[in-house]
Amino acid sequence: MSDIDRLALSNPDTFQDQDRVHQIFSSLRREDPVGWCPEPYGRGFWAVTKYQDIQYVSKNPQLFSSDGHLGGIVLEDPDEVAARVKAERGMEPERIGIFEGGRSMITMDPPEHTAHRRMVAPGFTPKKLGALEDQIRERVNNILDRIADKTECEFVESVAAELPIQMLAELFGVNQEDRHKLFEWSNIVIGGEDPDISLSREHVVNAFTEMAMYGFGLAEDRKQNPGNDLITMLVQPNADGEIMSNEDYISAFVLLVVAGNETTRNSISGGVLALSQYPEQWQKLLADRSLIPRAVNEIIRWVAPVIYMRRTALADTELGGKQIKKGDKLALWYMSGNRDEEVYTDPFTFDVTRDEARHLSFGYGQHLCIGWRLAEMQLTVLLTELLERFPDISATGQVDRMRTNFLNSIKRMPVNLQAKKHAA
Ligand code: HEM
Repeated sequence: MSDIDRLALSNPDTFQDQDRVHQIFSSLRREDPVGWCPEPYGRGFWAVTKYQDIQYVSKNPQLFSSDGHLGGIVLEDPDEVAARVKAERGMEPERIGIFEGGRSMITMDPPEHTAHRRMVAPGFTPKKLGALEDQIRERVNNILDRIADKTECEFVESVAAELPIQMLAELFGVNQEDRHKLFEWSNIVIGGEDPDISLSREHVVNAFTEMAMYGFGLAEDRKQNPGNDLITMLVQPNADGEIMSNEDYISAFVLLVVAGNETTRNSISGGVLALSQYPEQWQKLLADRSLIPRAVNEIIRWVAPVIYMRRTALADTELGGKQIKKGDKLALWYMSGNRDEEVYTDPFTFDVTRDEARHLSFGYGQHLCIGWRLAEMQLTVLLTELLERFPDISATGQVDRMRTNFLNSIKRMPVNLQAKKHAA
């Protein structure tokens, strides 16, 4: 394993070529499963690439912290981002970012994490989400109605992005028209590395400020008019009677918008892409709809919408035979764990009948994705209706990926629809 390959994991451009990324991960799993990787502007990190090791780190927050003060869950610390932006663009960046200022549950450790997670957990219970299923189906059908007479369309904007953002607007209890703003802000805030999305520093700062102002407006409203929505849950006093600070509230709000929006979108578009690349798998689903739940799991394993999350070692410890020092950074590469040969049979085969270990795409342990059921429901309903209404759908042209090593994100994906006319 060369240093060039190890360095490549820090370069967002590498992730435009998924084959190359998987080659690097395969080598690491084989030769150096907990492997030290240098960084161009940071002090380097441990790449954790095996399934079991990722699980071990995730379930030991007392040893491996998500704390924002220690750098949080993204690899680049603010100082490192500043050094890189200065080197690449020749300017001093202002410190902005989704997880700065306040902190949200994703950058907290227990017991603080537990208290914050509990506040919104009632919004994600099986009962609460189960009651949304009919609504999801109705929304899916309305979205598909809009493309029903077309023979081709740009799938990300017309379908994949629409459903998750409509559902978020629903969970927040906001006007559906506002979803366009939420969608745009979320793209800009998360797409900071992609010049196509984040046009300039001002652009990102403005988007973040507008989003925060909008979030505060909602909070004020819900304090007066409480409802049954996530915003009301965030502005209410917690179990100890404490109210969240303004900074933490905004972090929690932005986390929900970004986490619930981008990831689900990318599992939808990445799923349709995989089913187009492996048409025999699509045929299997057309022949047997009972495979849909397994297909949903396989899509999320295959895509790994969140490529990694980071932790920081709180003490000297050992992992995979390596001595980890207090303060060291570790990246949990879910994308790699999902292709671990010791856990999956033929992990590089996309197989909608696969019935093996749960993938790591939703994380594991303490921070297991709070929205996983909602994401799976959306993918299940959408897949079911696509099979019914567009049995010949296929991604046809150039797929554009976002420039990032954090999210496996598709920006544009043309599809051919050849829609079966809807039986009235
Ligand atoms: C396919 C879709 C999704 C994927 C792949 C995904 C992935 C993840 C991952 C990997 C984590 C763990 C972070 C860590 O260990 O540090 C996480 C946490 C989280 N996700 Fe998701 N997510 C998805 C959908 C959603 C949805 C729909 C929502 C909400 C509407 C959501 C909200 C959250 C929140 C709030 C957390 C933080 C949980 C905590 O820190 O305890 N996610 N997600």
